[in-house]
This record gives sequence, structure tokens and C-alpha cells, in this order.
Amino acid sequence: MIVEKVTLENFRNYKKREITFRDGLNVICGLNAAGKTNLMESIFVAAIGRSPRTKNEKDMIKMGEDRAFIHLDLKKKFRDHKINVEISKTEGKKIKVDDAVLTRLGELLGLLTVVYFSPDELKMIKEAPQERRRFIDLSLSQENKPYYLALSKYNKILAQRNKLIKSTDFAEFSTTAFIWETQMSEAAAEVIVKRREFIKKISEIADSYHRKIAGEKEDLTLFYEPCSDFETKEEIKKDLERALEENRKKDYELGYTSVGPHREDFSITTGGVDLRKFGSQGQQRTAALAIKLAEIEYYYKESGEKPVLLLDDVLSELDEKRRTALLKATEGTQTFITCTEFTEPVQDYLEIKIQKQE
Ligand SMILES: Nc1ncnc2c1ncn2[C@@H]1O[C@H](COP(=O)(O)OP(=O)(O)OP(=O)(O)O)[C@@H](O)[C@H]1O
Ligand SMILES: [Mg+2]
Repeated sequence: MIVEKVTLENFRNYKKREITFRDGLNVICGLNAAGKTNLMESIFVAAIGRSPRTKNEKDMIKMGEDRAFIHLDLKKKFRDHKINVEISKTEGKKIKVDDAVLTRLGELLGLLTVVYFSPDELKMIKEAPQERRRFIDLSLSQENKPYYLALSKYNKILAQRNKLIKSTDFAEFSTTAFIWETQMSEAAAEVIVKRREFIKKISEIADSYHRKIAGEKEDLTLFYEPCSDFETKEEIKKDLERALEENRKKDYELGYTSVGPHREDFSITTGGVDLRKFGSQGQQRTAALAIKLAEIEYYYKESGEKPVLLLDDVLSELDEKRRTALLKATEGTQTFITCTEFTEPVQDYLEIKIQKQE
């Protein structure tokens, strides 16, 4: 798929700007604070429906203005689409695809799929499990709608169970919890089965990229750490129902639900070393790069279409070998790269200059 054009109005530091892109490589050049990351953010918002860097959506409205607009023209294999995002100070966010106003965010996911890579993505390797779950959830939800629906359902019921823990006495909680627990376990089983499959596939592709970038002997393995070791959905569901029941007392004392997919993690190892804890900066960066490249291929295998790759501030952090491997791997994928100056030995690219005074 290809992002053909983006028009921004009162978005971040942009008053009004229309930018046309090409397939292949788009290099977004400009000085610090020119608006490069803002442009990448706008593409992400049109794809995912929210910002990769802020929870407060009004921050995206140009200071002193009331409304921001992102218009994006998308070219896909079988159909073209127009995505329109409007963020208003008073009315919140409205997303339109072609002429239909979306009522749920889930309807947007998967239309424009993006793989986003910025120095912040290192968090996925080295920080708390939450960051790795965020990676799985974002990736998998874009490609697999049933996953997104199961996860949303699970999160909703989990919140209900937690609310019950906080608002009732233990006797009442332990007699009514089963209502939530049955539904929770069912949604959780769907989430777990899909996460397991996803991690396995990503691990295989990432391993092959990792060997190309870091050397033939440098393996990379992602290993899912699920909250249930059972195989089938039915078995997992039963196992979780049992675990939730067993943990009622503990959960009540803790004040939250202590078992389930919302507590899971996956390990990332090379040569048997857990990079979450023991990886050097360089190792962690290489692993993150291999995983992001794997995401591109994963989408392509699953959907037959390449996602769009957003690389914000990534090149300057990589050595020459890794930069070359990265640029080679992006061939055939529409790629956006931000930088202050572009000196890579590639011929065919479009340079887009971003100037500060906009
Ligand atoms: N809501 C907003 N209204 C107006 N300006 C904003 C808003 N949000 C951010 N900015 C400004 O936009 C400018 C550009 O930010 P951006 O992060 O896109 O820069 P950049 O080109 O990526 O720079 P760097 O090379 O340092 O990463 C910054 O000066 C920032 O203060
Ligand atoms: Mg930036």
C-alpha cells in the first residue's frame, strides 16, 4: 500500500501543508524542530487512530487553534481510500474513511498498516513487559481484526472484575466473580492462541534478519511467556477459569486481577542471553531493528500487501553495516525516513524538505 498524499491543517506546527509522496523511499529532511516527527505522527494517527507519543490528543492541535485536520490519500491493491482525521478542542476526535464516519476505532485498524520505528522503540526490548505487550497488541491488531476484538472484550471485562474487587466486600465478590471470569477466560484464550502464533512467526523472520545484520551465527529468538501453558483454546479457557477462581482471595487483597494476558511477556534472546536484562545498547538496537523488519514481512505474508514503514530518527543511531542492511530490507516497501541530512548511497528517492517557519 502507498500513502500518496498527506494534507495537514493546524496539526502541530503546520498551518497548512500538502505533501505528495512516492512509492519506495521518501526522505524527510529538515533541521531540528522543523516538523519531521510531526509529519510521521500524522501518518501514524491516520493509520492507528491515536498518537504514538501522546495520550492527550489536543496536544496535536496547533497552539492557538481549535481544530486540527489530517487528510490522507491511500492507494491499496484493490481500492483507494481517503482517511480524514479531525481533532477538535471541544468535540474530540472524528475519523472518516471515504465518506463514512467511523463509530469505533476498530474499523480503522488494518486499512493503512504501519510499522513505526523510532529510538523510543528500544523500550520494547529493555523496559517493562507492558512495552512488549504494546508491541504485540499494536502489530497484531492491525493485521488481525478478531484479535483486536477479543483483546478489547478481554480488557473491558477485566476492568469490570477489577471494579468489582474495589467496590464490594469479599463475600459478594467471590459469589459474583464467576460471571465475569467465564467470559474473561474465553476472550483470553483467543488472545493467547493468537499471540503465541504471532510471536512464533515473528521470531522466525526476525532471526533471519538478525543473522543478516549481526552475522550468520547471531541467532535471535522471541519466546512467548503465556499465562497458560495449555495448547487448545478450550483447555486454556478452563485453565484460566480455574486460575481466576483460585486467585480470588489474593486478587481481592491485592485490589486487582493478578492472572491473565494483561500480565504476559515474551523474552528476546541471542546466544541464550536474555536481551531484556543483559543486552548491550547495540544488541538491543539490532534486535529491535530485526523485529521491526520482521513485522513488514509478516504483514506481507499474512495479507499480501506491504505496510508502510515509518523510520523516525533511526539512521543516525545505526552503524554503516546496519544502515545498509536496513535500506536494503526496505526495498519494495514505501518507506519514510526522517533525518537532518541524508548521505546514504541510494539513487532512487524523493527528498522532502521541511522548513521550520511553517
Ligand atoms: N501543538 C503544537 N502547536 C504548535 N507547535 C507545536 C505543537 N506541538 C509541537 N510543536 C512544535 O513543532 C516543532 C517541530 O517538532 P518535531 O518534533 O516535528 O521536530 P523534528 O523536525 O522532528 O525535530 P528533531 O530533528 O529535533 O527531531 C517543535 O518546535 C514543537 O515545539
Ligand atoms: Mg524528530
